[in-house]
Amino acid sequence: MTQIDQYAVFGSPIKHSKSPTIHRIFAEQTGQELVYTAQEVTADRFESAVTEFFRLGGKGLNCTLPLKELAWQFADRKTERAESAKAVNTLALQRDGSILGDNTDGIGLVTDLVVNHKFTLNGKKLLILGAGGASRGILSPLFEQQPACIVIANRTASKAVNLAGEFASRGDVNGCGFDELAGLSFDAILNATSASLSNDLPPLPEGLLASNGVCYDLAYGSEPTAFVRWGISHGAVSSLDGLGMLVEQAAEAFFIWRGVRPDTAPVIKLLNGER
Ligand code: ATR
Repeated sequence: MTQIDQYAVFGSPIKHSKSPTIHRIFAEQTGQELVYTAQEVTADRFESAVTEFFRLGGKGLNCTLPLKELAWQFADRKTERAESAKAVNTLALQRDGSILGDNTDGIGLVTDLVVNHKFTLNGKKLLILGAGGASRGILSPLFEQQPACIVIANRTASKAVNLAGEFASRGDVNGCGFDELAGLSFDAILNATSASLSNDLPPLPEGLLASNGVCYDLAYGSEPTAFVRWGISHGAVSSLDGLGMLVEQAAEAFFIWRGVRPDTAPVIKLLNGER
């Protein structure tokens, strides 16, 4: 008897993960037979849990907080975007038994902005708030859209300067502290700080968002985040949270595993309706 292909998301905390719902709908839509579960895995148990998962015939894994760097270390081989993100959210068993590590977060964000919301990044001035793992993960896919420039602003300015330095060969990119943003304006402001999670907001000067600009918070919740509310009150044409990015990164992982692209629109609509 052949076993149904097994997939899972590992993370901690994982109880409220929407990934099992998203992948169940993708599988139904595309007629793929698979099982996708959410498993509570802490960093200290990561290596043994992943090894056991693939030993028992698992085909692919998503890894979320706090496991993305560990997954990056675990993968036998990594894609270019995972390499530059220094984080992996998707592990895929290959025909030769090796494990490929990819990072679909950045392409998830770009697809949500460019395809779902019809916002062109090409030639635009982009501001990224934060210089942690979430910011690093989106930089390479953003540069592929050929923006005019990217500024990374962070509470700890030196981290933004260092991160910008790592991507200097990709285009016009600079790092700074929030206090250096006065007088500048951007077509898109992307919030990749973890401030949203505590309903906090980085200090942002007036005039930061250009007219027709968009705001995007990589985080999401049942209520609009502090940054989404900031965008609305500062005239953003769209002020979005990361729910679309979540579904799009899942779709890209599904494609890596199954070779089929699911339709994300009905899933985004469903999850939006649930909150
Ligand atoms: P992640 O992997 O989610 O990016 P991280 O690597 O811990 O998490 O980075 C969190 C980011 O959010 C950092 O840029 C952090 O700023 P510092 O580098 O100065 O710590 C930023 N951050 C967290 N809380 C913040 C707050 N209340 N205001 C502004 N920035 C904040």
